[in-house]
Amino acid sequence: MLAPIAPGHLPVLGNLYSMRTAPLATLTRALRENGDISRVEFPGGQRGHFLFHPDHVKTILVDHAKQVSKDTPGFAALRLLLGNGLVTSDGPVWLRQRRIAQPAFHRAKIFALGGRMVELTRRTADEWSVAAKAGTTIDVAESMMRLTLRVVADTMLGKDVERDAAGVGRAITYLLHNLNERIVRPWAPPVTWPTPNNRRFLEARDSVVRVVDEAIASRRAKPDAPGGEFLRMLIEARDEETGEAMNDQQLRDEVVTIFGAGHETTANLLAWTWSWLSRMPHVRRKMLAELDEVLGDRDATAEDYPKLPYTRAVLSESLRITPVVWLLSRRLLQDITVGEYTLPAGTLAFLSPYATHRHPGFWDNPEGFDPERFMEGATSNRPTLAYFPFGAGPRKCIGDTFALVEATLVLATLARRFELELPPGMVPVPEPVITMRPRGGLPMRVRERS
Ligand code: HEM
Repeated sequence: MLAPIAPGHLPVLGNLYSMRTAPLATLTRALRENGDISRVEFPGGQRGHFLFHPDHVKTILVDHAKQVSKDTPGFAALRLLLGNGLVTSDGPVWLRQRRIAQPAFHRAKIFALGGRMVELTRRTADEWSVAAKAGTTIDVAESMMRLTLRVVADTMLGKDVERDAAGVGRAITYLLHNLNERIVRPWAPPVTWPTPNNRRFLEARDSVVRVVDEAIASRRAKPDAPGGEFLRMLIEARDEETGEAMNDQQLRDEVVTIFGAGHETTANLLAWTWSWLSRMPHVRRKMLAELDEVLGDRDATAEDYPKLPYTRAVLSESLRITPVVWLLSRRLLQDITVGEYTLPAGTLAFLSPYATHRHPGFWDNPEGFDPERFMEGATSNRPTLAYFPFGAGPRKCIGDTFALVEATLVLATLARRFELELPPGMVPVPEPVITMRPRGGLPMRVRERS
């Protein structure tokens, strides 16, 4: 028995056209019209399914984690940027690297970085202060990108990127758009062909890799310099059986991966959160009351993290309604039964936080922004994977605690001092290019709180 075909299916192009032109609308329409499972088809004989039910998300990401792979068009495109690092690798290579990286992400280690995260946030506060006095508008999406880049480079790699931040931010924005185009235009020339588009892509990629190479070289030159625990661990790691260090290419791929995955996502979470706070004054007031009560007139520290439940709930709700990673893909290595259907080996499975976080079976008023859903005591019989902004199972985000601690400290530090306002009537539009960011940035007026 075949699952119903997803809406927007065309001859030859199948579902590619609607996924290319209106991916979020295609997903939510499929959920509304077909329910939990829809079949999709793409040119070249690629077939797959959208799976929206939390139990089906669990079937793929948790129960059958070893029977699915990242051999998908989306990850193939990402590999052009990230190489074979933690996000994109599979099998024994992935397992070895995950074991090496895991200790750097221990909760206590992340908490120990809190002070540094706040110090780096104060630099952004200084910039905002100047903008507030001048009465100018700032692009909050760009500002958050620079801040989170500074944080990941400093804490994980031990590198000051102030000089490179703007250039790297622009390069990554361009690279994500370019990669997205490669996914939705499978007929585009391969990256090895010397077309102008490919040349631009490789130049942008080189500008990011250069910064990473510098970080590796300076860490090798001064292994005992403070900071950059993660990079030090990668350099010092030895294979248990052979005693060999990671080769240069693998090391570079891991570092580019953390550099990319570790800042762009958190920046977008923060950008979306500022936009929600501007649109929901009652939420902002309640969050400020919590910050004022817990912090008084001092900056936050990592120890405050557990004491700020409402601020954390605002971030959780932001990740529900505007999840930065909006679509995950896997290829089935064997037939897998999902509900009443058998999904054949070789086909693709698409899991969408954006759609499942709006599933009417599990969320009341899904389009409403309401942090109370995440407060302790809020009654819910939702299955765990009705909410999976960081993925699930063995491939779950390694940086989830890092991201949440960082975002909480950044929000607490800046919201205490500044009020941000969207231009009247502006509703940011999501642009889903691998990650979901506000289209055209986020121009906001900044005012110092009296
Ligand atoms: C709000 C911020 C973030 C979001 C929403 C996010 C989301 C995700 C998701 C959904 C996955 C799973 C992908 C899949 O299953 O295909 C993932 C994996 C990953 N993330 Fe994050 N992430 C965030 C922040 C970070 C940070 C701060 C770091 C590092 C400092 C990081 C590093 C990684 C890595 C290395 C993986 C691959 C893990 C593996 O497969 O072993 N992420 N992330």
